[in-house]
Amino acid sequence: MGSNGMLARRIVETEMPIMVQIQQLIRGAKNAVSLAQGVVYWKPPKQALDKVKALVEEPSVSCYGADEGLPELREALIRKLRQENNLQRSSVMVTAGANQAFVNLVLTLCDAGDSVVMFAPYYFNAYMSFQMTGVTKILVGPGYPKTLYPDADWLERTLLETKPVPKLVTVVNPGNPSGTYIPEPLLKRISDICKNAGCWLVVDNTYEYFMYDGLKHSCVEGDHIVNIFSFSKAYGMMGWRVGYVSDFVWFVKFVLSCICYILHSLPSNICIHPSKRV
Ligand SMILES: Cc1ncc(COP(=O)(O)O)c(C=O)c1O
Repeated sequence: MGSNGMLARRIVETEMPIMVQIQQLIRGAKNAVSLAQGVVYWKPPKQALDKVKALVEEPSVSCYGADEGLPELREALIRKLRQENNLQRSSVMVTAGANQAFVNLVLTLCDAGDSVVMFAPYYFNAYMSFQMTGVTKILVGPGYPKTLYPDADWLERTLLETKPVPKLVTVVNPGNPSGTYIPEPLLKRISDICKNAGCWLVVDNTYEYFMYDGLKHSCVEGDHIVNIFSFSKAYGMMGWRVGYVSDFVWFVKFVLSCICYILHSLPSNICIHPSKRV
């Protein structure tokens, strides 16, 4: 049983997370700081920490929750999407973090053997999500050298020339590890290129609040687009494992079929309890 031969090839061939590699590298080293993982210094909102002590005793928070997320939490998130992200038609499904949202989307949108597109420097977990689900034709596009924005000319050419057309394009906005945001006109152009080619665009907005110098983060909406969000960095709630997917309403039921009952964590049940909002 100790041999890799007993494991699924998909998993053996999935790269080890860079965070684990760095932890191994710096083990025992004095004063070494890992820059491999983004951990914010702010804590969850005080109201959340205060309320959680009382809520944890409630039997209902230890029960299975609604698959798509507690209705009251979803309503609050939809309000947020309308007001802050200008996503006027999208619905919401709560997930156990943005990472699980991404894996569920890959399971829902891609078959093993499909090709997909991402841009360097890419978020390692997204790359691994493809590998571990058998999506091994991962085309990695360049960023513009000065800005590290995804190179839209390369994308246009690649989607025209690659047959069959890649199934999914993913971008992170603002990027990890680049830190660079995607200006709205470029995001719209990327969206149009994907729509014309007939492929999905998945935008990971985990760092939506990491905007500086008066710049404003923006989202795009369309029936070929899925947006991902996370509580982790936005509210300092990394360990709570809460994220959400936003998309057109019809799409939700397909994602649901992938995640029925494997997504909910105690924190997401507590997060906005129907009777007592955190
Ligand atoms: C781009 C990106 N997406 C998603 C995540 C993970 O988010 P979550 O904690 O909600 O799974 C991270 C965490 O570092 C990230 O950098």
